[in-house]
Amino acid sequence: MNAPKLSARLLAAADFVRQGSFVADVGTDHAYLPIYLCSTGKIRGAVASDVNEGPVQRAKINIRSYKLDKKISVLLTDGLRRIDILFPDDILICGMGGELISRIVSEAEWTKERRTRLILQPMTHAEALREYLNREGYSIIGERLVKEDKIYQIICAEYTGKSEEYSDIELIFGKRNLTKGTELLKEYAEFVRSVLATRRDGKLLSGADVSYEEKLLREIDGLLANN
Ligand SMILES: C[S@@+](CC[C@H](N)C(=O)[O-])C[C@H]1O[C@@H](n2cnc3c(N)ncnc32)[C@H](O)[C@@H]1O
Repeated sequence: MNAPKLSARLLAAADFVRQGSFVADVGTDHAYLPIYLCSTGKIRGAVASDVNEGPVQRAKINIRSYKLDKKISVLLTDGLRRIDILFPDDILICGMGGELISRIVSEAEWTKERRTRLILQPMTHAEALREYLNREGYSIIGERLVKEDKIYQIICAEYTGKSEEYSDIELIFGKRNLTKGTELLKEYAEFVRSVLATRRDGKLLSGADVSYEEKLLREIDGLLANN
């Protein structure tokens, strides 16, 4: 079966999906992810959900054009509401802010009891998402950086009930990404450094306290020096 061509970002997320699983793609929009995963035979089926009517209609049209109506159902719903009754093994939430993703996961306690795999791709605030996951006992079992028009983070987590110590830098970049220490990590660290430096300079002008930004900048400089 022909599969749609996925962006590097979505392909990296798809990599974390387990063979043979039933998947929920939350905030599916075009439904390319579940269509790709079904067409390549990696998953046995999926629910593609979205909170907005437009994306739901788009998903339905695309799913029909790939003749996957029997394998992928479409649901208009907010976050993971009503998705528990479909018993997904793996949940994808890509292309939303880290705080929204945290809110969606926080409203689905059943992902803890069932140890559902969460594959998350925050557009912003990856640090807030990691902090939330760790506080709630979801362990990060895999993560990676991927470059498209810019650098994105993919985080894969499952509930273990355990929390660990995280430094600010580890929350921003991810412990596994830091251990790997790739060229992409360096490029991403330089980007985050420039955003932080701009924020520090803006705060300095208004006379605000910049000790937090200064501390992070020193830590990022250390990271860059060691990579
Ligand atoms: C930027 S698109 C991402 C589409 C696709 N997941 C991707 O990464 O390419 C974000 C999608 O999330 C949907 N969305 C936003 N908030 C949501 C929520 N609370 N529950 C479900 N879907 C949501 C939007 O309607 C939109 O279709």
